Formats: sequence, structure tokens, C-alpha cells
Amino acid sequence: MKVGVLTSGGDSPGMNAAIRAVVRGGIELGLDIYGIERGYAGLLDEDFSPMTRRDVGDILQRGGTILKTARCAEFRTDEGIKKAAEILKDFGILHLIVIGGDGSMTGALKLSKEGINVMCIPGTIDNDLGYTDFTIGFDTAVNTCLDAISKLRDTSSAHDRTTVVEVMGRKCGDIALYAGVAGGAEAVLLPEKPMDFEEVVAKVNEGIEKGKLHSLIITAEGYPMKTTKLCEKLTERTGKDTRMVVLSYLQRGGAPTNWDRMLATYCGMKAVELIKQGAKNRAVGISKGEVIDMDLEEALNTPQKFDDNHYEMVRVLSK
Ligand code: ADP
Ligand code: F6P
Repeated sequence: MKVGVLTSGGDSPGMNAAIRAVVRGGIELGLDIYGIERGYAGLLDEDFSPMTRRDVGDILQRGGTILKTARCAEFRTDEGIKKAAEILKDFGILHLIVIGGDGSMTGALKLSKEGINVMCIPGTIDNDLGYTDFTIGFDTAVNTCLDAISKLRDTSSAHDRTTVVEVMGRKCGDIALYAGVAGGAEAVLLPEKPMDFEEVVAKVNEGIEKGKLHSLIITAEGYPMKTTKLCEKLTERTGKDTRMVVLSYLQRGGAPTNWDRMLATYCGMKAVELIKQGAKNRAVGISKGEVIDMDLEEALNTPQKFDDNHYEMVRVLSK
């Protein structure tokens, strides 16, 4: 049975570990695994090649994706989806494993309506998929933020400054929230629960009154106020020099953590096992410590839960 695998959307640390599990796990089950380069763009360009166990040697510990990734405008059109399905059918590839975020999974769902059996693995640093507790790459991204925050604390306290760190996550504030709890931020600014600017000012001023040498604010890229404006206004209102650091693509690179390697491995193995069992159009993930799979459409319709508990921790512990 021929099974295609591709990575799509923003890369995330652990995608390689997932590819490795799909290839080696799939071959063990007697599946013929085909690597498709550059996501849906490579699919439309018929950029396929069969993969062997050796092709995925020495990649477990590497960030990025050996299959490369892309954002593909053509695949967003009905014609693009139909063309992709025809190409796969012509190659005899009726099963496709998509490693990517919600956009990639939405594309996969559309492909399933054209007769391709899809299996989705959550690969994105954003942790923005409601059906799974964690996505592959999120943990590594948060650790990268924490590493940067530790360094920024040194220089920020040496100068008695306020530092605003902008992190990624699109419309999801999870990277900011987790980095805020584990990095000991004074405040986290999130799209889901945007703190009023006056409250941010009050937080920094309270810290100054209590004798704090510096303040650390973590803002998610989806927070309604632009980070440059936030810093300007904070300097004005607190009298403290406020500097901005945008961590940007640093968060997407680097060796995956133990957790991301394990999650990627569980999901990759589960995906090929499900295909072997005849399952189709499902999303795999993790919930309450268990590896799960769910109907893809249902998974994409599962709303994300906002973690009030973590938000409250930052409020209480930053006083
Ligand atoms: P992610 O998968 O990380 O959320 P994107 O949202 O950029 O990243 O999606 C990756 C690719 O998936 C897009 O470039 C496009 O080819 C495809 N895609 C995204 N959304 C859709 C959609 N609504 N319909 C069809 N394809 C989509
Ligand atoms: O989805 C992953 C992500 O890194 C987001 O956090 C970020 O908003 C986006 O991708 C950046 O996309 P691009 O690589 O197209 O600049």
C-alpha cells in the first residue's frame, strides 16, 4: 500500500522525528512510504520519492524538516485540490500523511472529500489545535523563549530596564503563556484575554514601587497592540527605559526537546498503525497523557480551551 507523507506550513522542531517514525514504523508494517517535498507545492509539482529506513537516519535530533515545507496558494483553490487528488491517484498513492498545523489539516480535509484518505499529525509551534493538548514543536519553542528570557534578565536587571519579549503563535497565546509562567514574567499579553494597557502600566509601576530592578513582559504576536507602540507608551508612562526583543524565527529552529521527539514519535507510529488498520481521515494527538485519534473534521471543529489557571498563576506569582 502506497502512503505519501509531507510537511506543510511553518516548520516545527520534531517534524523530522515524526517523518522518521512514519517511515520506519510504516516500513515495519509493510507500507511503501513516499516522501513529498515542499508540502502541497511539491505535491502539485509531483515531487515524490520512495523512502527507505536509511533516508531518515540521523534526523531525529534535527530541527527543520528534511522534506522541506511550503505555503501553497494554488492548493487553497478548488482546482488545486482536485489536481492534487488526481496526481496522487495517478501515482497510486491513496493515503496521505500530513504533518502541519490547522491550515494544512484544513487542506487535508478538503483532499479527503476528493477521495484521498488522509491522516494528520499536529506539527506547529503554535499549540493552536483544540483537539490535542500539545502540538509537535511547541515545547521546544517555549524552551527557546526561556533560554532567551534568562539572558535578557541579566542585561535588563543590570540596566534597570523593562524588557518586552514578543513571541510567536498567530492567534494563540500559548507560547507567551507558558513562557510567562516558566520564565517568571510580570505580565503576559495574549490575544485570547488581552490585558488592558492601563493594567500593564500599573503592573510595571507596582514593581518599581516594590523595588523590582526590572520587569519582564511577554507579548504574543496576536496581542492587539503592536509591540513597538507598547514599548514607546510604556517608557512614557513608567519613566523606565523599555526595550523590545522579537524572538521571531529563532523559536522555530533548533533541536527538538525530549518531549517533542516523544510526541512526534508517538504520533508518527500511531498514524501508520491507523492506516494499516484501514482507518482514514483522522487526526492524531495527545490528550491527558494518552495518544488519541479523532475524526479529522471533528478535530478541526474542536474549540481551543483557554488556560485560565496558567493566566492566574502569572498574576499571583508576579506580585
Ligand atoms: P499551518 O498548517 O501551519 O497552519 P498554513 O495556514 O500556512 O500553515 O497552511 C499551510 C498550507 O496549507 C497553505 O499554504 C495551503 O496550501 C494549505 N491550506 C491552508 N488553509 C487552507 C484551506 N482553507 N484550504 C485549502 N488549503 C489550505
Ligand atoms: O504557524 C507557525 C508560525 O511560526 C506562526 O507562529 C507565525 O505567525 C507564522 O508561522 C510565521 O509565518 P511565516 O513563516 O510565513 O513568516
